[in-house]
Amino acid sequence: MEKFIIHGGRPLKGEIRVNGAKNSALKILAAALLTDDNCRITNIPQIEDVFRLVELLTDIGVKVKNGSRGDYLLNAKGIAKSSLSPDIAQKLKGSILMTAPLLARLGRADFPQPGGCVIGQRPRDIFIDGFKAFGASVRETAKGYSLLAKKIRGAKFVFPLVSVTATETMILLAVLAKGKTDLINAACEPEIVALADFLNKMGAKITGAGTPFVKIEGVSHLKGGNCEIMPDRIEGGSFALLAAAANSSVKINGINPSHLEVLWFLLEKVGVNFELGRDFVKIKPAQELKAVSVKTHEYPGFPTDLQAPFTVLMTQASGLSLIHETIFEGRLFYTDTLNQMGAKIIMCDPHRVVIQGPTKLFSRRLVSPDIRAGIAMVSAALIAKGESTIENIYQIDRGYEKIEERLQKLGANIKRTDKLL
Ligand code: EPZ
Repeated sequence: MEKFIIHGGRPLKGEIRVNGAKNSALKILAAALLTDDNCRITNIPQIEDVFRLVELLTDIGVKVKNGSRGDYLLNAKGIAKSSLSPDIAQKLKGSILMTAPLLARLGRADFPQPGGCVIGQRPRDIFIDGFKAFGASVRETAKGYSLLAKKIRGAKFVFPLVSVTATETMILLAVLAKGKTDLINAACEPEIVALADFLNKMGAKITGAGTPFVKIEGVSHLKGGNCEIMPDRIEGGSFALLAAAANSSVKINGINPSHLEVLWFLLEKVGVNFELGRDFVKIKPAQELKAVSVKTHEYPGFPTDLQAPFTVLMTQASGLSLIHETIFEGRLFYTDTLNQMGAKIIMCDPHRVVIQGPTKLFSRRLVSPDIRAGIAMVSAALIAKGESTIENIYQIDRGYEKIEERLQKLGANIKRTDKLL
């Protein structure tokens, strides 16, 4: 099994470019299923989650040509299978996005019970209620779900709580439905706006994406289209937090700063020395970092996906900070590992931890439980003096492309190995 070996304790220096967004690419790729025409999608990050989704698309009969780096040509004319391969689908929560286009086009979709996930239960009840609201029948078995619908009809659907992929799934279902759809309490993430923009380019009639009230008028068919994946705001935020925690000089290029307003507000309060440009942020060494509390929230609030890298920054800040994770009930357990590295973090309950900083961090053997806790461990290991190892790096590869090569260019002493140590 591959792992990272990191020798920390040295400042980083240089420039790093943000790739296309994982949490947009997965949805845009699924949207290509809604048409018989070609779709050309560029700036797709070369990460494990994308590779899994492409395997699922190919498995059901989509023609996928992966041209130069991150440039895909897709054609779904030949889709013949309506069931997602369980082995692959269980590795990728986002695979549920494919069910809506399959149901809309083939009148049937079968997907497995969601595999386990360390960040929370992640139930599927909102999806199931949504499919039923659009006229599908749902049969649940121990293995998974079977959806059937002769004709999908538009619906008024109220989300009991804000869900990103459930919103995207209902949009993908409504665009070819008969009649009008009203989505209420929809998620407002920029990735949802990007999905609606692409679908509208394909001939859909969506208004209000990016607000809690989305209206869709169903059309009989969609044409093909081109789409360049937007910059990954979570990757951009992760790099900014990693550079600030390592008190380093790093310029992060290719970001859209307006997607991370709360992060910039908090970094200012912490006392991070940074400069924002049209499409970049420059992090510079700071005098002193002050502890600041944060509460995760749906967009445009502070993203739960940046909670772990922010927590590492708070281990280097003076004073007490409270991290309140409101979205997922299992996304703070990695803090135990940071304590083993020398941090002082008290878990109050599954949603809250209190951090006493600043503390020295010491190198350690680490295991990455998920994508974002994984990048937080890379950040902590880069700060800690000595040699750390990080195992289960598939989790990091799921969301960050060739992270070690990109950090090496910033002077980080990190390498990937599958040798037994
Ligand atoms: C998306 O997950 C992202 N994934 C996640 O990023 C991100 O953390 C999350 O949104 C929140 O921003 C993708 O876009 C592929 P939710 P999603 O449904 O849509 C509950 C990363 O690291 N819920 O918005 O699955 C759920 O349990 C990943 O890149 C139900 O109760 O998250 C959670 O508590 C991790 N029933 C809350 O809603 C449902 O049917 C919000 O989750 C669906 C969700």
